[in-house]
Amino acid sequence: MDTSRLLFLIFMVITTSECSGTTEPKCQKMDKRSYTLLEGEAFYLEPYDVASGLSDEDIEWYKNETKIPTDKNENVHYHGEALFFLNLLPENSGNYTAWETDPSSGKCYKYDVEVNVVKSSYMKNLLYGEIKNSDTNKMIPCPDPVKKTCQRLKGKFRWNKDKKPLQSRHEDDLWIDNASKDDEGIYTCICTWTYNGKEYNSSASRELKVEGNTSHGSAKSTAASRKGKLSITHR
Ligand SMILES: *[C@@H]1O[C@H](CO)[C@@H](O)[C@H](O)[C@H]1NC(C)=O
Ligand SMILES: *[C@@H]1O[C@H](CO)[C@@H](O)[C@H](O)[C@H]1NC(C)=O
Ligand SMILES: *[C@@H]1O[C@H](CO)[C@@H](O)[C@H](O)[C@H]1NC(C)=O
Ligand SMILES: *[C@@H]1O[C@H](CO)[C@@H](O)[C@H](O)[C@H]1NC(C)=O
Ligand SMILES: *[C@@H]1O[C@H](CO)[C@@H](O)[C@H](O)[C@H]1NC(C)=O
Repeated sequence: MDTSRLLFLIFMVITTSECSGTTEPKCQKMDKRSYTLLEGEAFYLEPYDVASGLSDEDIEWYKNETKIPTDKNENVHYHGEALFFLNLLPENSGNYTAWETDPSSGKCYKYDVEVNVVKSSYMKNLLYGEIKNSDTNKMIPCPDPVKKTCQRLKGKFRWNKDKKPLQSRHEDDLWIDNASKDDEGIYTCICTWTYNGKEYNSSASRELKVEGNTSHGSAKSTAASRKGKLSITHR
């Protein structure tokens, strides 16, 4: 036996014993995420932390042991790392699992995603984190899943306040300058995106609360919050 084969054998013994020493399953389990979504809308879902640019062969999506198809005409299908719901139906609620295999390392990852489809009357369920701070100018970030949808699919942002459209506001982070009590309400970020030749809407809302008067030095904190725009963690 030559040296390289011997080294290979030693390597095999080490790796095998490392694996058998733990109860780790073959796939690394990633954090589970839950989404509450509106019936009739579309949803583009990338699991948190997934690599981007995967091919349909690198990943497989399942709902309760049934494989999700890759056919773009199916209401629920996947393409690359993303799961698409073209028209959310109550029966689409459930637990979805993606298994990703990295072809270069052979490593495997498991992503669990829970989806709950509700009718619009359950508004409160649908709210992402509320905005409540003492800043004079308020920044309302478009909630992550919708922001990501628009970025990935080159969609267009729109905003509603209490279901009424805000004219010519097409930014992902909505700024309300000199916010007053009148600005309180539910702000909905809507992304209109085109996929496979058709248009879809996805939305997500946040509530803005405006506290009493701001303390002195608000001008300073405003500048700081504008600067910090990029480092704010959304959700
Ligand atoms: C999901 O799978 C479990 C066990 O495999 C089964 O008991 C259950 O009926 C399934 N649910 C649906 C909605 O198919
Ligand atoms: C997802 O699975 C959990 C735990 O098994 C279960 O409690 C929950 O009801 C499931 N969610 C849906 C939407 O079926
Ligand atoms: C906000 O308030 C400041 C100070 O009262 C004022 O100078 C500024 O013009 C206001 N900005 C807007 C957009 O109303
Ligand atoms: C998206 O929303 C706009 C404005 O509410 C509406 O006109 C359009 O029909 C919607 N598109 C779809 C596909 O639902
Ligand atoms: C806010 O400031 C204005 C003018 O400085 C004052 O009239 C008002 O009472 C203050 N409101 C609160 C809630 O402190």
